[in-house]
Amino acid sequence: MIGQTISHYKIEELLGKGGMGVVYLARDMRLNRPVAIKVLKPELTADPDRLRRFFQEARSAAAVTHPAIAQVYDVDTIDGTTFIVMEYVAGQTVRRLVTNRELDLLGSVEISIQVAEGLGYAHKANIVHRDIKSDNIMVTRDGYAKILDFGIAKLLEDEVEEAKKETSQDLSRTKTLMQTKAGTIMGTAAYMSPEQARGQPVSQASDVFSLGIVIYEMISGELPFKGDSPLDTMHSIAFDEARPVTVVRKNLPPELNRIITRCLRKNPRSRYPNASVLADDLKRLKREIETGTQTTFSRGQRLQGIIEWLKTSMPFGFKGIALAAVALILVAAIIFTNINWSILIGLTFFGLLIYRYVRNRKSRMLNRFVAKVSKFPEVKAISFKEDRITVVVEKAQAKIYIRVNSLINALNKKLYFGRPLTVAVRDDLSQDELQRMMREPGALYVSEDSILEVPNKPA
Ligand SMILES: Nc1ncnc2c1ncn2[C@@H]1O[C@H](COP(=O)(O)OP(=O)(O)OP(=O)(O)O)[C@@H](O)[C@H]1O
Ligand SMILES: [Mg+2]
Repeated sequence: MIGQTISHYKIEELLGKGGMGVVYLARDMRLNRPVAIKVLKPELTADPDRLRRFFQEARSAAAVTHPAIAQVYDVDTIDGTTFIVMEYVAGQTVRRLVTNRELDLLGSVEISIQVAEGLGYAHKANIVHRDIKSDNIMVTRDGYAKILDFGIAKLLEDEVEEAKKETSQDLSRTKTLMQTKAGTIMGTAAYMSPEQARGQPVSQASDVFSLGIVIYEMISGELPFKGDSPLDTMHSIAFDEARPVTVVRKNLPPELNRIITRCLRKNPRSRYPNASVLADDLKRLKREIETGTQTTFSRGQRLQGIIEWLKTSMPFGFKGIALAAVALILVAAIIFTNINWSILIGLTFFGLLIYRYVRNRKSRMLNRFVAKVSKFPEVKAISFKEDRITVVVEKAQAKIYIRVNSLINALNKKLYFGRPLTVAVRDDLSQDELQRMMREPGALYVSEDSILEVPNKPA
């Protein structure tokens, strides 16, 4: 490609490769300025309908002009090759800066503010980015952040959606497809919002979630949600709570944790509604860091802070808090009232009964889950270990994955305390592994036809 000319753009240098295509540095020979050209993979735009939607997206993205957004200049298809021409950004991606440990606290907050402002500006124009990640944010040598790839991510979503719908709805095919998309989803999965991971509609709050992950990554050098495969990562995003950033890295302002936590809420309605509101909070944080002051919090915020702190630092989390509170009330009752002992013992007994009932709630709900899932004919076995359920199936089809997940979602919603349950659907266990799993503690169900082989006893 290098040395060639497409339209009036002369390709000069390779800048990088991503999931959707190859990016080159080129010269716009009419305006005589450097541009970046992303040449899209042909299969992404083979479908005329999709191509039309892509042009439409690109048009609305091109209408947004902001210093923190790499401007879209042009889109075109020539001889079957579709490309997008955009502002060339001389600098490094945030991913690079994180890997090379070039970001300090204030630098990270400054970049976060710029990105949140740019994103907020696009949100006001009703445009959602859909693929905010540290690869799609660059920082120039003078410290200006630029968001890349506005108006492109929809293509990728279409691709995955189609893969999901494809013929047999065979999940393992979707999985391989996701993995072989040159790591696109792999790269993107870690930044997906829970609603994107579930294939639900995205909103501005989805970008807020993804930006929350980038901020977490810049500050701590780590990703909050990780898995061995894209599906595992998506799982972790949907169900796990991130370790507070203030635990991953010490000596951070607690306010930073509050801001990131609000970005990473599972429910989009509990997050910042759009990036501008997030930008306001980040700016306040920056002033505090610079002047060494702490904002005065409202009583509600302080209480929330105390609860978050208790939840992470108290042994047994909420359960520990509840037990400590009950003990405290009992001690106070004994000291300050001349309470009748038999009433006290009765109350304690009653309290213990309630505690037992509540404590067993999870296992009761788990039993109900097993009863329902074991009715699916494709399910061979179910086991449970450390809040993680494994459902072994004949063949991991999308419909099973969706059904099992919606059951778990419903269950987790009704779980008032304790860690949410996660579930893995597996079709890759050998007979031996299955047998071993069924012999270990936690085996909950095994279907008739995969009944354990009894090892032959020597005569
Ligand atoms: N406008 C640009 N100016 C300068 N360099 C760019 C520009 N756009 C992309 N690049 C470089 O090209 C690399 C590849 O970008 P590309 O967008 O294809 O991949 P990606 O961001 O990793 O994945 P995705 O396809 O999901 O966006 C980037 O990491 C960046 O270094
Ligand atoms: Mg990109």
